[in-house]
Amino acid sequence: MDKLLITGGQPLAGEVRISGAKNAALPIMCAALLTAEPLRLDNVPRLMDVRTMAKILALMGVEVGAQENGRLELRAREIKDPTAGYDLVKTMRASVLVLGPLLARCGRAKVSLPGGCGIGARPVDQHIKGLQAMGARIEIEHGYMNASVGRLKGARIVMDLVTVTGTENLMLAAALAEGTTVLENAAREPEVVDLANCLAAMGAKIEGAGTDTLRIEGVRSLAGAAHRVMPDRIETGTYLSAVAAAGGKVRLSGTAAGTLGATLEKLREAGAKLAVAGDAITIEMAGRARSVSLTTAPYPGFATDMQAQFMALDCVASGTGQITETIFENRFMHALELQRLGADISIHDRTAVVKGVERLQGAKVMATDLRASASLVVAGLVAQGETLIDRIYHLDRGYEALEHKLSGLGAKIARVR
Ligand code: EPZ
Repeated sequence: MDKLLITGGQPLAGEVRISGAKNAALPIMCAALLTAEPLRLDNVPRLMDVRTMAKILALMGVEVGAQENGRLELRAREIKDPTAGYDLVKTMRASVLVLGPLLARCGRAKVSLPGGCGIGARPVDQHIKGLQAMGARIEIEHGYMNASVGRLKGARIVMDLVTVTGTENLMLAAALAEGTTVLENAAREPEVVDLANCLAAMGAKIEGAGTDTLRIEGVRSLAGAAHRVMPDRIETGTYLSAVAAAGGKVRLSGTAAGTLGATLEKLREAGAKLAVAGDAITIEMAGRARSVSLTTAPYPGFATDMQAQFMALDCVASGTGQITETIFENRFMHALELQRLGADISIHDRTAVVKGVERLQGAKVMATDLRASASLVVAGLVAQGETLIDRIYHLDRGYEALEHKLSGLGAKIARVR
């Protein structure tokens, strides 16, 4: 199995191009299920999760074009089998995003329950509750959600908590429902807005994207469209935190700084100099970072998907930072691995207290989930000597050409067997 070998200690310098957002591309690919016409996407990242979603869609009969230069064309002329099976769903929880659009288009769907996850329980009760409020019958049988409905009906749905894919699933379903759906306590993440923009280009009537109340007037049918996937704000934040930790000066192009408010604020607090010009962000870090404290929250709060990378930054910063995770109950697995590199972290319930150390030392570590892996890369780039990261298939799910991009910035990084 592939591993990543990093020899740390060099500052980063140069330019890196940010890819399209995984967490926008996945729901947008599912929008293709809502129309018989082609959906032409641009800026689709080349990632394992995108390939998994493409496989799931292809098994249903969706025509999936070859992915070239970020282009991907999907066409669900006919959905032969509205099923998403266990073998693929278990590898990627976002697969549950097919449930809403399948019900809306076919009136039935059979989707495997995602099951357990390394970062928390992650139930899908809000997805189910919302679809039931729209008239769907959903039964859990042999590990599958068996859903059926005549035509979905618009409803007023108050989500019990803010859920990103839950909001997206219901938005996809409501686009073709009869009547108006109002989603309250909806997620405000930029990826939700990107999906709404794509759906609008297909002819959907959606108001309020980016606020906590979405109003979706269902239409009879949707058309094909062309859409460019938004830049990946978490990939952007990961490179920014790597520069903040390792030092240096890097220009990131293809970004959307407007989606990174809380992350940029914390980087400034850590001592980074940031300049935004058009779609580029330039970061310069001279000297050692200062510790930052943060609490994760739904957008526009500090993203849980950036928490691990900032923990790595705090590990080498001057001072002590407190990091509180409020979204997922088990998202500190990276702390134990960071300790293997010499970090001083103590965990008290949902808060990690990170005392910065002068230097980390390279060691063998294991990636436990996507963003945990990213934090080990950030730490490895600063650590003295060699860091060998095992189980990097997690990284391949969400970071396009990671070692290539980092080598371009002067990092000593290689994929080894
Ligand atoms: C999305 O996951 C992202 N994935 C995650 O990114 C991200 O960490 C997360 O949102 C939070 O920002 C995609 O967009 C594909 P949630 P999602 O539903 O939608 C609870 C990454 O590294 N909940 O917003 O699955 C849930 O357990 C990934 O790229 C329920 O209780 O997250 C959690 O505590 C990992 N019932 C909280 O809500 C439900 O029905 C927020 O989860 C749904 C969620």
